Amino acid sequence: TRSVWLSRHGESLLNLEGRIGGDATISHRGEEYALKLPDLVRESVGSDRPLTVWTSTLKRTIATARHLPKHYNQLQWKALDELDAGVCDGMTYQEIADRYPEDFQARDQDKYNYRYRGGESYRDVVIRLEPIIMELERSEDILIISHQAVIRCIYAYFMQKTQEESPWVPVPLHTLMKLTPRAYGTELQIYRANI
Ligand code: F6P
Repeated sequence: TRSVWLSRHGESLLNLEGRIGGDATISHRGEEYALKLPDLVRESVGSDRPLTVWTSTLKRTIATARHLPKHYNQLQWKALDELDAGVCDGMTYQEIADRYPEDFQARDQDKYNYRYRGGESYRDVVIRLEPIIMELERSEDILIISHQAVIRCIYAYFMQKTQEESPWVPVPLHTLMKLTPRAYGTELQIYRANI
C-alpha cells in the first residue's frame, strides 16, 4: 500500500526565538532531528522500499532532508513553502498582537480565512497545494518535509478535518507522521524522535 509521510523541518533558529516565517537554517537541536530522521524513516518505511522526498525551497526543510539516503529522489516545491505571513513575517505573536491587534483577533476568530496583510490565509495555502495533492494521489511513497501550516493542510485533506479545525491541528516538531489511505479512511502512525 502507498503511504505519505509528513514531517516539519527540524527546529529553526527563528523557532527558538518564537518568530514566524523567515528563511533561517536549523538549530543544533534541529540538526539532531535531521541526523535521526534516516533512522525514523528506516523504521517506518523499511530499508528497501523506494521513497521520494519532497521539501519546500526554504533552508530549514532542505537541511532537514540532508542526511537521508542518497538514492532517494529529492524534489523542492515552492508550493510547499510556509504560509506567507506578509508584513508579519519574522515577528513574534506578541509583536503582531501589539502592532496589529485587530488582525490578531480576527485571525483567532477565523484562522482559516484570515489573510495576513501582504500574505496568505490557510485557504490560500490549500489552493496552492492543489497540484501537490494531485501529484500525491498518483505517486508512490512520498516523504514531505515542510512547515507547520502546510503540513496541517495536507494532514487535514487526508484525515478529513474541517476547514474550521485544520488550522489548529497540533503538528509537533521532530515527529514523523505516516498516513496510509484505506477504504474506510486514512490510517495514522506517529514516530517521535526523542531529542
Ligand atoms: O512558528 C512556526 C510557523 O511555521 C510559522 O512560520 C508560521 O507562520 C506558523 O508556524 C503557522 O502556525 P499558525 O498558523 O498557528 O500561526
